[in-house]
Amino acid sequence: MFPERFSNLPPYAFPRLRALLDAHAPGGPVTHMSIGEPKHAFPAWVGEVLAANVSEFAKYPPNDGTPELRSAISGWIARRYGVTVDPDTQVMPLNGTREGLYNAAMALCPETKSGRQPTVLIPNPFYQVYAVATVSVNAEPVFVNATKETGHLPDYESLPAEVLDRAALAYVCSPANPQGAVADRDYWERLIALAEKHDFQILADECYSEIYRDTPPLGALQVAREMGADPERVVIFHSLSKRSNLPGLRSGFVAGGPESLARIKLLRSYAGAPLPLPIQRVSGKVWADEAHVVENRALYAEKFAMADRIFGNVPGYEPPQAGFFLWLPVEDGEAAALKLWQETGVRVLPGAYLSRETAEGNPGKGYIRVALVAPKDETEQGLTRIRDCLFGQ
Ligand SMILES: Cc1ncc(COP(=O)(O)O)c(C=O)c1O
Repeated sequence: MFPERFSNLPPYAFPRLRALLDAHAPGGPVTHMSIGEPKHAFPAWVGEVLAANVSEFAKYPPNDGTPELRSAISGWIARRYGVTVDPDTQVMPLNGTREGLYNAAMALCPETKSGRQPTVLIPNPFYQVYAVATVSVNAEPVFVNATKETGHLPDYESLPAEVLDRAALAYVCSPANPQGAVADRDYWERLIALAEKHDFQILADECYSEIYRDTPPLGALQVAREMGADPERVVIFHSLSKRSNLPGLRSGFVAGGPESLARIKLLRSYAGAPLPLPIQRVSGKVWADEAHVVENRALYAEKFAMADRIFGNVPGYEPPQAGFFLWLPVEDGEAAALKLWQETGVRVLPGAYLSRETAEGNPGKGYIRVALVAPKDETEQGLTRIRDCLFGQ
């Protein structure tokens, strides 16, 4: 009576973590470094804008977003990437990127590709919605390991032509959760060329794009434009969750070619949930303001410096280029997370909870993911306890 296609989904990472840890007492003050929930302050005026527009909860919101919000988003894209997108046809606000990453697959993935079941290319480890979206559209997920050897980004060029010819979509996360790797120009150019050759779309999850050290990460849309690629080739996803510390606002956007956006909007008009109007109002103001983003980035820069100092002598430590996670090599991620909890009270996520078993093994197994979201002092204490407990320094 229930669908078979979801039956082999593993339990979600966080219930799995609770099952691993919660039967055991913490060995010290509990410090949460497992969930990537930003803890820095969001702009104080967010509450005022929301309050000023609260009466609009009485109205059904427009499906495609208000013109003001869509132009705030296209303005941000132009400033950030130097790319012009038509706010009427190439942008749609999202209830956070997770919703969009799921629904884009529903709207864009064909039933067949080259006369056969389509494949969807997914980095491994990965943000879990990519896999469930793939299964939902009855496509074959192809997990491509993103390891130290591949610069922590998936090498889709290494796939057999047969898999690439059937590819309908390829998810890419840059900056990458969990590894903090950033796709450079060469990576994007090669991937876009591959997508042009095999005629698949790239779904670029760029929700960590504003948390970087010095150089703003390149955007996929920007590179596709510069290359003169098919305008439908790349669809990008951005969020206020990380950029502006508003994960509970549920606000992001999708942008790309007009045909793709028309399909995404059509599906939303039937099945989706547009953002409530007061949230659209405040989101427009948040996209238009950059000062709080600069401040936020400076706070993360302090944490990157702190992590580099604390783990600098740990063999195998790779300073993240961007995002807010450390991806620390250990012998066994589950054993390390349990030891850390029992001996220090620090909660981290075993890497394997974010990755799948493949013929070459599970690329997350020998890692833990550590979120740098807590206030600075708490983060420093947590990182020091991790180093002392797991790396004995
Ligand atoms: C890689 C990645 N993509 C997407 C999301 C979803 O973020 P949101 O739906 O809050 O925009 C997250 C959240 O943790 C993430 O880590």
